[in-house]
Amino acid sequence: MRKAVCPGSFDPVTKGHLDIVSRASKIFDEVTVAVLINKRKASLFTVDERIEMLERETAHLDNVRVESFYGLLVDFCLERDIKAIVKGLRAISDFDYELQMAQMNHRLTEVETLFVSTNPLYSYLSSSLVKEVATYGGDVSGLVPDEVLTQLLEKLAQQNNQS
Ligand code: PNS
Repeated sequence: MRKAVCPGSFDPVTKGHLDIVSRASKIFDEVTVAVLINKRKASLFTVDERIEMLERETAHLDNVRVESFYGLLVDFCLERDIKAIVKGLRAISDFDYELQMAQMNHRLTEVETLFVSTNPLYSYLSSSLVKEVATYGGDVSGLVPDEVLTQLLEKLAQQNNQS
């Protein structure tokens, strides 16, 4: 069985992420979306919330599952016999760091990284930008799924009320 992982923070998942996951699901028999538990980086959504969003938004893809992971991505891959990491490349600015990670991951365990060119519709899109624009009242509809947008606006409103 050909297995791949699509790793990330997904805080929150965007349509750019979902495009890559959906395309990976057509190439591999099983795709695991792996949500990084990063104790050093503050996130807007909890890991459970991010998993729930991803499960809902990939429910129509039979061969996609969602998990969280802590530590090295290559260890996650080794434990599950996953031989490929699938990443989206938005622009040349992504390439430097992505290449470093791909080479390091290959050195560690020989896992391969396959880059998928991001749909031009989403080439400027990132979770961070979506959060920033939404924080200041900008319109991010169409860039994240509708239910994610609702959750994002609720979360930002909660934060506003607390401060
Ligand atoms: O969505 P992000 O935050 O850009 O995703 C980055 C991610 C999760 C793919 C990357 O940080 C990662 O793989 N982290 C796990 C820790 C690890 O394996 N680090 C060594 C990379 S060579």
